[in-house]
Amino acid sequence: MNVSAPLDSDTGEESDTVSDSGLIVAVDGPSGAGKSSASRGAATELGLRYLDTGSMYRALTWWLLDRGVDVGDAGTVGALAAEPRIEVGTDPRAPWVRVNGTDITSVIRTREVTGAVSAVAAVPRVRAHLIAQQRDIIAKAGGVVAEGRDIGTVVAPDAPVKVYLTAAGAERASRRAAETSRSPAATRMDQDRRDRLDSGQSGKADDAVEIDSTHLSLDQVVDTIVRLAREYSGVPHPRHQSQ
Ligand code: DC
Repeated sequence: MNVSAPLDSDTGEESDTVSDSGLIVAVDGPSGAGKSSASRGAATELGLRYLDTGSMYRALTWWLLDRGVDVGDAGTVGALAAEPRIEVGTDPRAPWVRVNGTDITSVIRTREVTGAVSAVAAVPRVRAHLIAQQRDIIAKAGGVVAEGRDIGTVVAPDAPVKVYLTAAGAERASRRAAETSRSPAATRMDQDRRDRLDSGQSGKADDAVEIDSTHLSLDQVVDTIVRLAREYSGVPHPRHQSQ
C-alpha cells in the first residue's frame, strides 16, 4: 500500500483551504454520475488528497484477467484478492494506479476490465481486503475526498461530509458515450447491467447530501461539494470572504 508524496505546496498553502483539517469527504453514487471529475475538482480546490476506490477494484480485476483467472469463480477470486500489491497515487491532479509496480492507470478503463469488475467487487473477501486498504489510506491522508459506492456507509461512515451524487440514467449514459466511441443506447444497456450488479455494494448514507447533477455543470457540482466542506470546517468560501 502506498500514499504518494504530499501535495505540492501551491495546492496546500492557501489560507482558504481545509487541507490541514484531516477532513474526510465521502462521495458515493452510481457510475457515470460524474463522481471522479467532481471529487478531483473538489479535492484540488480544497487542498485535500483524492482516493478513487473504484480504481482499486479495477486494478485487482486487471491483474486477475491478466493471469487468466475466471472472474466468475468467486472462490478463486477471493483466495487471490490479497496477492497483488495495489498502490494508488492520491494527488487529485494526477492520480495513478500500480499493480506490483506496473503502472496500469489507463488499462483499467478498458471495456474488458469494466465488464468484469462488478463480479470481482461483489466477492466478500475482495471487499474486506480492499476496504481495509482504503481505510488505511484515508487514515494516513491527512484530509481526503474519497469516492466510490460505499464510502459514506461502510468505508468511512464517520466522514463528516457525505455526498451522494446522482444523475438521470439517460444523462449518465450520454455523458459516458461522449467519452467513448459507443452509442448512447449500447452504453445505456451496459450501464443498466452494471447498476444491477453493483447495487448490493452501493448505498446512500442517511446523512449524505444528495446532489442530482442531471442539469448541473461540473463546476456547479464541484462548487457544491466545496461549499459543504468549507461550511463543515468553518473555512469561508473565497467568494464570500470580502462580504
Ligand atoms: O467507479 P468505478 O466504475 O471505477 O468502479 C469500478 C467497480 O468497482 C464498479 O463495479 C463498482 C465497484 N466499486 C465498489 O464496489 N465499491 C467502491 N467503493 C468503488 C467501486
